[in-house]
This record gives sequence, C-alpha cells and structure tokens, in this order.
Amino acid sequence: MQALLFLMGLLLPPGARAEEIIGGVEVKPHSRPYMANLKIIKEEGLKKRCGGFLITRQFVMTAAHCRGRAITVILGAHNVSKRESTQQKIKVEKQIIHPKFDSSSKLNDIMLLKLQKKAQLTPAVDVISLPSPSDFIKPGKMCWAAGWGRTGVNESTSDTLREVELRIMDKNACKDRSYYDNSIQVCVGSPTTFKSVCKGDSGGPLVCAGVAHGIVSKGAKDAKPPAVFTRISSYMRWIYTVLKGK
Ligand SMILES: *[C@@H]1O[C@H](CO)[C@@H](O)[C@H](O)[C@H]1NC(C)=O
Ligand SMILES: *[C@@H]1O[C@H](CO)[C@@H](O)[C@H](O)[C@H]1NC(C)=O
Repeated sequence: MQALLFLMGLLLPPGARAEEIIGGVEVKPHSRPYMANLKIIKEEGLKKRCGGFLITRQFVMTAAHCRGRAITVILGAHNVSKRESTQQKIKVEKQIIHPKFDSSSKLNDIMLLKLQKKAQLTPAVDVISLPSPSDFIKPGKMCWAAGWGRTGVNESTSDTLREVELRIMDKNACKDRSYYDNSIQVCVGSPTTFKSVCKGDSGGPLVCAGVAHGIVSKGAKDAKPPAVFTRISSYMRWIYTVLKGK
C-alpha cells in the first residue's frame, strides 16, 4: 500500500484511446473553489505535492501523511504551473496532526493546516462544508474526488485540476486492505469500473452532495480501486476543538 495521489479514469466513449482515459476529466476552471494545492518540503528536504481543501478562511484540511518541514498552500489555482491572477499563496503557520495518526497503518490520516493569514474569499476561493458527526456516508452513494496528482501509475502529475466520480463501497470491498476500519475510514471506488486512484494527490476531498466527507488516504500500488479515505464525520469533535483553539 502507498499513499495515493490522484484519482482518474472514466467512462470511455467507444473508440477512445487509452491515453485519453487515463487523463480523467479536467474540471471547469475554478469550479471547485475549496481546492488547495500543497507544496511540501519533507523532513529530508525532498519536495512533495498533496491536495487539501479550505474549511474556514484560516484552515485547510488534508491528510496527516502530507506533513513536512514546511508547507505552502495555493488556493484559487486551476493550472498550478501558471501564475494565475486568481491564485493566493499562503504559508502554513502550524500543522496540527491528529494525535492518533499512525504512519505505518495510516489510521487517523487527518491534519489541519493553520494559515499564516486568512484567505480572501473570491469566486475562485471558497470554503466547503463538513458533515455533522452523525452523517455517516453510506455505500452506494456517488461522490467526487479531485486533485492535481498523477493521471496513471506511470504518468506524471497534472498541471490542471481533474476530478472523478466514485462509488462508496460496502466495507467488505476493503477487507483485504491492511488495517481498514470502516468506523473511521471510507472504502471508495468500485473494483469493476475503470475508475482508479494514483500517486499524486493525497489529502484531497471526497465530496458528496456539496459536503466534504472524506480525505484521500491510501490505495493499492497498482492503483486498482477501491481506495481508502479518512471518514471526516468521525473526527468532527477533534476538528471543532482545533478550530476553536486558534
Ligand atoms: C499549464 O501551464 C503551463 C505554463 O503556462 C503550460 O505549459 C501547460 O500547457 C498548461 N497545462 C495545461 C494542461 O493547460
Ligand atoms: C508501469 O511501469 C512498470 C515498470 O516499468 C511496469 O511494470 C508496469 O507494467 C507499468 N504499468 C502500466 C499500467 O503501464
């Protein structure tokens, strides 16, 4: 198992070439204004990218395994290789990792990033709602995941934001994933579809009916679905404690 980055794959029009599938769907620019792109300098000095999402003007939610020595958040981006006038680059003042995060099992893979200054809300930058503690997302629901990660196991990361629609699976579909715990994680993506998860955008949201229910956490090395997401509704008490303590 390894940290995942991006989700891709789609329904193919007949006759489409493989290269065209692997790219997934590029979103309409700035139509997901809560999306954050994270530039991370890891402890060893290596660079890494993750996804995240804005939950208040001063806090971004992401996966705990995206932690590092320093993080800069880019809000309002579509093509992260471009200097877009909509972009706001803000340094992270504090990384608040869940106290029970375990880097080998990836249980409790959730982190809040306190920004050095509040984001300006604009048409390209906005917050997303979180679920209530009792809002336990059910199997069969269709949700969306987005990110700038790789578009295939052997592909490079994407300049532009892409997204994929994924089905919430019964917990049995993830029973062979190591350490899977359905009370604090969500099993996402049907094994019978060609929609899959790849390296590149851990920390991005799983959005169901406009609410962020999950955080991209881990997937299989070959990127075959299902993938494992952190279940946000199970962490609402901790989240409120952190947000109030600012
Ligand atoms: C993103 O921007 C870069 C720099 O301008 C450009 O070279 C690249 O083609 C753009 N990517 C896409 C997918 O439009
Ligand atoms: C990716 O690259 C590896 C190593 O080169 C290869 O074994 C594997 O079949 C490739 N996977 C795909 C889907 O192309």
